[in-house]
Amino acid sequence: MKTERLTKKELAKAVNWIKDGEVVAFPTETVYGLGADATNEEAVQKIFQAKGRPADNPLIIHVASVEQAEQYVTCFPEEAKRVVSNFWPGACTLVLNKKGDIASSVTADLNTIAIRMPDHPVALELIEQAGVPLAAPSANSSGKPSPTTADHVYKDLNGKIRGIIDGGATGVGLESTVLDMTDQKKPTILRPGGVTAEQLETVLGKVYHEKTSDSELLAPKSPGMKYRHYSPDKPVYILPENIEQAEKLIGALEDKKECVGLLVSEDTFESLGSLSSNHFLLGRKGYPEEAANRLYEGLRKLDESDATVILAEAYDKTGIGRAYMNRLEKAAEWLK
Ligand code: TXA
Ligand code: MG
Repeated sequence: MKTERLTKKELAKAVNWIKDGEVVAFPTETVYGLGADATNEEAVQKIFQAKGRPADNPLIIHVASVEQAEQYVTCFPEEAKRVVSNFWPGACTLVLNKKGDIASSVTADLNTIAIRMPDHPVALELIEQAGVPLAAPSANSSGKPSPTTADHVYKDLNGKIRGIIDGGATGVGLESTVLDMTDQKKPTILRPGGVTAEQLETVLGKVYHEKTSDSELLAPKSPGMKYRHYSPDKPVYILPENIEQAEKLIGALEDKKECVGLLVSEDTFESLGSLSSNHFLLGRKGYPEEAANRLYEGLRKLDESDATVILAEAYDKTGIGRAYMNRLEKAAEWLK
């Protein structure tokens, strides 16, 4: 299949493809999504095929309004409404009890459904004009870093999907927060993301965190957490925060004839000197939103470079730093 690249102005073509049951990648404020009509089982199957995604990992449905979301949940509790009125459109996905006409593979036969309203004019226009919610995972090959540009999507999925709408680079750079609100008294973050726990706590009071240690990966609440994720082909290690230790590690790797690729802040790069010829800068130290925005691009760039190992900088696990570290630790934990 030829994968057509569209500009925003050619959105009408993409709308027709969605209506015909085809799969189209589109920009959101977090990462690019791989969309299909969530009410059409055959169309949704094409998403799983194109990505090589395991069938027991459910998809998020993307809506263009709160009213549209209400059609697919048994009840929209007061607490969920508060989240929605503060953070939609935006990078917060709600897990609620499902109802209505949604293809069963979207929810992997669970009783719950994950829903979000993306904060991106192209995504909203596409959903509105298609007239149906779009099931959409991140538009990468399963296991690869999520795409933050149309080029990333093209590299992973050329020939496997009908088209890509190019809306430029995404803003947040990491996926949405997945918040389980099926128990209103215990709102639980299943996956940290663009809307931070601190932000959610301003409207919900205490927010809980689903632990995703290795043992819990066997029976995860959010099925996606058990799979290898966000990983380039090359091994990723987290760089020690102490500069001398970092230099030692780089030296030891180079002694073993490894070629080190650094994924670090500008400040850390300066402290380390030009130790490595392969590097990608994450922005300023202490600005995790800049690192979040560049992490996936950096992993992809270093994967394409001569580097044989990637050393990435740690950030504090507060604010968006929590989501950044979640993805980085997952990229690092699946050593091949
Ligand atoms: O920012 C995002 O969320 C992007 C853009 C495209 O919207 N989408 C995205 O989708 O990251 P995906 O498929 O890569 O991740 C969806 C996550 C997975 O971890 C999945 O297991 C979880 O949401 N999920 C989906 N439905 C669920 C449900 N009913 N209960 C619990 N977790 C669910
Ligand atoms: Mg994904």
